[in-house]
Amino acid sequence: MKALILFSSREGQTREIAAYIANQLKEQQECEVVNIEHASAVDWSKYDRVLLGASIHYGHFHPAVTKFVKKNLAQLNERPSGFFSVNLTARKAEKRTPQTNAYTRKFLLQSPWQPDCCAVFAGALRYPRYGFFDRFMIRLIMRMTGGETDVSKEVEYTDWVQVGRFAHEFAGLSGKMQEKKAL
Ligand SMILES: Cc1cc2nc3c(=O)[nH]c(=O)nc-3n(C[C@H](O)[C@H](O)[C@H](O)COP(=O)(O)O)c2cc1C
Repeated sequence: MKALILFSSREGQTREIAAYIANQLKEQQECEVVNIEHASAVDWSKYDRVLLGASIHYGHFHPAVTKFVKKNLAQLNERPSGFFSVNLTARKAEKRTPQTNAYTRKFLLQSPWQPDCCAVFAGALRYPRYGFFDRFMIRLIMRMTGGETDVSKEVEYTDWVQVGRFAHEFAGLSGKMQEKKAL
């Protein structure tokens, strides 16, 4: 059985985090890393655990995330599962937990799926890769929140040690499916 690692990413940071976690897990378990926008028909019989990671743009996760959760709710709930969110608010350590990160707290409050483990990771700020409007908007937000405003810069805030710890936590989740079968 494999672990399914789904990601929703626009500029690639969440995809990189998903790949990093898959690499950490590979000693214990085979993993498949899949873009959630290409996961319309998952063959759940192949997977005994699932992890979903998604980034924030203008205050929201991609609509594909909630759509996927709705459609696959039973399968998500019957396996050990994890969720992580990626955003720039989390560059501040005090906003990097599921309880203190507003996007993640709101998602968990509204979601019918309750993952067994959850994390918030700081993403990346990559001004040179944004179009004019996004660069302008992100710079404005950064100015208002005391962040980097030099548009020639790319800054990666992701704490890879934190990501590694979370990968370990996810790998250690006990098998709900085996527990169910044993009953
Ligand atoms: C157009 C745009 C809008 C964003 N909006 C937010 C936001 O509302 N809140 C936030 O904390 N981060 C925001 N971010 C930061 C992203 O969440 C961060 O760059 C993350 O690394 C993106 O991950 P991805 O490359 O996997 O999509 C925004 C980034 C961009 C480019």
